[in-house]
Amino acid sequence: MSKIGGPYIGQDRSRSTSGTSLAIDNIGLLVTNHPEDGEGPLGIRRGVALVIEDGFVSAITSAGAAITDTQVDAGGRCVLPGFVDSHSHLVFAGDRAEEFTKRMAGQPYDGGGIRVTTEATRAASDDELRRLTNQRLLEAHQAGTTTIEIKSGYGLSVTDEARILRLAAEVTAETTFLGAHLLPVEFADRADDYVDLVCGEMLEAAAAHSRWIDAFCEVGAFDLDQSRAVLQAGSDAGLGLRLHANQLGFGPGVQLGVEMGCASVDHCTYMSDTDLEALAASETVATFLPATDFSTRQPYPDARRAIDAGVAVAIASNCNPGSSYTTSLSFCIALAVRDMGMTIEEAIQSVTLGGARALQRDDIGRLQPGSKGHATILCSPSYHHLAYRPGVPLVARTIGPLGSKDSTRTSHGPHDISP
Ligand code: NIG
Repeated sequence: MSKIGGPYIGQDRSRSTSGTSLAIDNIGLLVTNHPEDGEGPLGIRRGVALVIEDGFVSAITSAGAAITDTQVDAGGRCVLPGFVDSHSHLVFAGDRAEEFTKRMAGQPYDGGGIRVTTEATRAASDDELRRLTNQRLLEAHQAGTTTIEIKSGYGLSVTDEARILRLAAEVTAETTFLGAHLLPVEFADRADDYVDLVCGEMLEAAAAHSRWIDAFCEVGAFDLDQSRAVLQAGSDAGLGLRLHANQLGFGPGVQLGVEMGCASVDHCTYMSDTDLEALAASETVATFLPATDFSTRQPYPDARRAIDAGVAVAIASNCNPGSSYTTSLSFCIALAVRDMGMTIEEAIQSVTLGGARALQRDDIGRLQPGSKGHATILCSPSYHHLAYRPGVPLVARTIGPLGSKDSTRTSHGPHDISP
């Protein structure tokens, strides 16, 4: 058995148990996301082997030509860069199935349930939060995700925000301080005091565990000035900027995100022409979260309009217990193609390169020499099946970290490859 362990896809041709080189061989269709090196916008290569050494892609060779310590036979199926999920709230306790059920019966989503999760999360021990987070990470890895961003936002106190971020930092480098998620009950009617706390003591406690800062800029959460103050404080503390904006209606969030140089503005369900123009003229990515619009019965964002206007886009899961309890980016791809006007290729790029761009990373989201060797092996011959067969777990195997420092970490989907 090779060091990556587990059942093999096709034939195991490993030649040792101790090396750090791995070939995914006999790939029918490889998405490199490197158009200079392959066909079309996805840079497709056919009949190849992907060679990964010490966690990085070292070569793409003809099938059968790679000599490595471990080989995985992809059996002629499709291989993609591991998915990059640039928006999640994975560290939480409690469940809001009841809220979802009421919503399906007509009750609108207003974000108020964040306080329910905050209460449950504050009451959970570190070990319980670790256990829950690891379960969700495994689920995401089995579904093809190899990099994930995790936000706080269910602590809403100095101690609990710092605690959530410390736990998140144990499993990802992409951690985001979201103290400005909602006013906690103890600050009802004292929004400015809470914003002062977020920008002061809470940020001080959170910054050591955070790469990014975020705010929920929306009616009922934080207004333009409050969101700007939070982003400015984060920037002064050396954090990168991201923003929740334009989820529940039109508003100033997208333009604030652009003005402040956010890496990404997320949701973008409602966008005016001026919002699109501002985004198109900027480096800020619009990250769509279609599973949220699905689960809150909101309209889907018009991704076609954004792409045609020249906006850089990404798609993320927004895994959280209230508005989007899924880790499946395959589900998001299917929604984006079916309901947001994206081509399948655009949707695939949005969960790989787009997610990487939203995190300002150029080492992930692609498979070319020098990039991280994070790969998703499908049990289908092409990536089209991700939209064509919605709801079917099509990821046979995921190779590369999610919540692990082990560059050979491997998860298996419920199915081995089959026609
Ligand atoms: O991105 N919109 C704000 N935050 C989350 C929802 C969190 C919740 O409802 O618990 C989101 O959708």
